[in-house]
Amino acid sequence: MIRPREVRAPGTGRKLSLRNRLVLGSAALIALAAVLIGVVSVLALQGFLIDRLDVQLTSASTRSQGALDGRPGGNNQTAPPAGDFLALPGQREGTIAGLVTSDGTITAGVLGNRGSSAPLTEAQLAVLSTLTEASDPVTVNLGGTLGDYRIIVSSTPIAGESLIVALPLADVRDTVLQLTFLVAGIGLLAVGSAAIAGAIAVRFALRPLERVAGTATRVTELQLDRGAVALAERVSLDDADPRTEVGQVGAALNRLLEHVAFALSSREASENKVRTFVADASHELRTPLASIRGYAELTRRGGHEIPDDVAHAIGRIEAESVRMTGLVESLMLLARLDKAAAVEHESVDLSRLIIDAVGDAHAAGPDHVWELEIPDDAVVISGDRLRLHQVVANLLANARMHTPAGTTVTASLMWEGELAIIEIRDTGPGIPPELQPTVFERFVRGDSSRSRAAGSAGLGLAIVAAVVAAHGGETKVSSTPGNTVFRIELPGGVVL
Ligand SMILES: Nc1ncnc2c1ncn2[C@@H]1O[C@H](COP(=O)(O)OP(=O)(O)OP(=O)(O)O)[C@@H](O)[C@H]1O
Ligand SMILES: [Mg+2]
Repeated sequence: MIRPREVRAPGTGRKLSLRNRLVLGSAALIALAAVLIGVVSVLALQGFLIDRLDVQLTSASTRSQGALDGRPGGNNQTAPPAGDFLALPGQREGTIAGLVTSDGTITAGVLGNRGSSAPLTEAQLAVLSTLTEASDPVTVNLGGTLGDYRIIVSSTPIAGESLIVALPLADVRDTVLQLTFLVAGIGLLAVGSAAIAGAIAVRFALRPLERVAGTATRVTELQLDRGAVALAERVSLDDADPRTEVGQVGAALNRLLEHVAFALSSREASENKVRTFVADASHELRTPLASIRGYAELTRRGGHEIPDDVAHAIGRIEAESVRMTGLVESLMLLARLDKAAAVEHESVDLSRLIIDAVGDAHAAGPDHVWELEIPDDAVVISGDRLRLHQVVANLLANARMHTPAGTTVTASLMWEGELAIIEIRDTGPGIPPELQPTVFERFVRGDSSRSRAAGSAGLGLAIVAAVVAAHGGETKVSSTPGNTVFRIELPGGVVL
């Protein structure tokens, strides 16, 4: 029989749930958008501020040029003091102005807060003297307390002389830094709140999917492999609305369940037909079998002289018809037990039943050692006496037929909580391991010559399992050479 495959255990690799993937995915997209917007706006602002600074730089340079044009001596080659072309009206604090003469001498200063001009260090002067004239301002790091500057170098009317004017970039840098922090803060806030809102929204959106999965799980817990199956589980109509994706899954599951329910009821109907057929056929066979047995017996006892070979043949006919009657009765019983739990409801004294069965087994197998372990108080349950007797008799017959003479067979009875436990243990060679998983199925028998010689059909344990199941109990087996245990668990207060 093909059994449903076990659901594979989740692998060891990390697998994110759909919910987490949706939330993380949308948070990542928002983070990416925030980073893009942030970078573009910071760069745009920086460009704008530098452009503005460059305009101011050009004005400052023009002012300094103006001051140089008006210097006394006009074409005089000696450079005036830096303050002359630096400390001018309109020139802002931090402005640097310098003059490089044709012989490479540099005169430069930086404007203080009260229009005073402070000198530059040697290193800063060295940096400035390396600059060449260009139409566009450049950014240069002057080091020390000055930092980055935008610098424009232009020529003066005196040949070989160039004017350097520079404005600090510190304000631009501060503003850009502030905006960067602001954008980063807002971005983080947006990503955080989007993740929380997304988690809540996804949770709500996936609820119907959880309900659909719940329905599927409940179906897997139903026993579908035998008997009349009522497959009534369905996804609710709200969760099976085909206009939504989850609804499509729900609707598909409902269609699947509908289909399976139909298949199961067809299977149940055809099984019932077969059972009825087997039960009817077995029933019909009993009468002709009884006649064959009767005629054979009559011929044997008729007192006529019959040749030995004919007597032997008649003996075989009688023995085989007895065996066939047993087989037919087993088949009929199994078909009836399959159809419905066809067992009686009466109080059964299991202690008495086991004592009788072991007594019978002892009579049938005097070469075995028979032992009884039963509690002092009678164990009484509600059930079908005849069928339960058959259960114990079948197990004892197996212990007799499938083990060699001298084997000890122990029948024990006990209470375990609410369960009445019958155990038939023997010290025989045991059931072959490959037979054990299917030993309770029909027509399953070991092929030892002993079993075959005994004419076993392989129905004894199938009847045991069916009767015990009809009583709501369980049948278990464990077998190793020297220790074979059949354990029957019957609910104590079972009301049938
Ligand atoms: N106590 C046991 N020791 C060893 N083998 C056993 C024992 N009980 C059952 N078996 C094995 O299990 C098989 C199935 O047993 P089951 O009672 O169903 O059929 P059977 O005894 O062969 O035939 P039937 O009972 O219908 O006459 C047996 O053929 C035998 O090989
Ligand atoms: Mg048997």
